[in-house]
Amino acid sequence: MAKTPIVFTLNGSERASFAEPGQNLLEFLRRGVGDLSPKYGCGQGTCGACTVSIDGVTHLACLTLAESVAGRRVDTAAGLATGATLHALQESFMENFAAQCGYCTPGMLVSAKALLDRNPSPSREDVVEAISGNICRCTGYEPIIESVLAAARGRART
Ligand code: FES
Ligand code: FES
Repeated sequence: MAKTPIVFTLNGSERASFAEPGQNLLEFLRRGVGDLSPKYGCGQGTCGACTVSIDGVTHLACLTLAESVAGRRVDTAAGLATGATLHALQESFMENFAAQCGYCTPGMLVSAKALLDRNPSPSREDVVEAISGNICRCTGYEPIIESVLAAARGRART
């Protein structure tokens, strides 16, 4: 079957590439476009390592057809920093030791960013709910939750 040309916006820049028939967004981003920040964890929608934002709403890239992002805006953890300046969430994750192996971190950051975009002053419960689809096998979650709350409080350097 023929590949499908897809034009979309990735982290603010227009991109174009070809998707294999039935290819999921995670493979498309990693292999077709070269954005390695969304991670392959389970491949079946249970770990959140592949979380990306599509038009401002989080999606699991492993369960999303690549073709569905044509003409849409996709944001990943790779787009959080501005040049050498980290996003406040990234700074806060570092300051609060919220990453150990780091495999879950890109998905966590995308989920946390989506939360802060819609709710700049979240409660602890809001944060827990926002990252409930993101599994971390290392940190016990507390440093991650505190990082998001600290970023929201503006304690992290921007
Ligand atoms: Fe997509 Fe685990 S790789 S949810
Ligand atoms: Fe290792 Fe979260 S830091 S899975």
